Amino acid sequence: MYQIDQLLRKNREWADAVHADDPAFFNRLASQQSPRLLWIGCSDSRVPANQITGLAPGEVFVHRNVANVVAETDFNLLAVLQYAVDVLKVRHIIICGHYGCGGVRAALENFRHGMIDNWLSGIRSLRRMHREELDSLPPEAATDRLCELNVLAQARHVARTTIVEDAWERGQEIAVHSWIYRLDNGIINPLTPPICAALENID
Ligand code: CO
Repeated sequence: MYQIDQLLRKNREWADAVHADDPAFFNRLASQQSPRLLWIGCSDSRVPANQITGLAPGEVFVHRNVANVVAETDFNLLAVLQYAVDVLKVRHIIICGHYGCGGVRAALENFRHGMIDNWLSGIRSLRRMHREELDSLPPEAATDRLCELNVLAQARHVARTTIVEDAWERGQEIAVHSWIYRLDNGIINPLTPPICAALENID
């Protein structure tokens, strides 16, 4: 039986261990955060940004949602992005999807899942755009390919926000990375070189 009290006990143990190792750690972090990275990932519990990249508290600013979607109408995401770019001045924005993503799989299925289908409508559009390739693959391979296409599309969406375009225009250096994580071996692979400048308007 899962005990919620255990979380609080584990938290105390963790804080004590961190303090023992570096007595100034919490005071230093409490005074300011200056992460150089923004992580946009899936809410999936198996893909925690800090743990899988070996980063400590204070090193990565994080936004997660179902299927790591970057919707230009999502004020939550835009607020995170604007703060990360304009205030924290992050140098890297990482879009990290994962193979076997349930959100992406749902976008491939031809039945209703509820409200989430509205959230996934952009991924369903992507599916339609790549129907020929996806239909030629077995179901699991099609899901994984759409997971990759989704990461690439969401990275382009980040690059096309006014926030990132304006930052590049000002000469701010930002690299937008397209990464994908494999649940069954814990490995992240980049899908393409990062986007480091404004995209042409044609693709
Ligand atoms: Co997912």
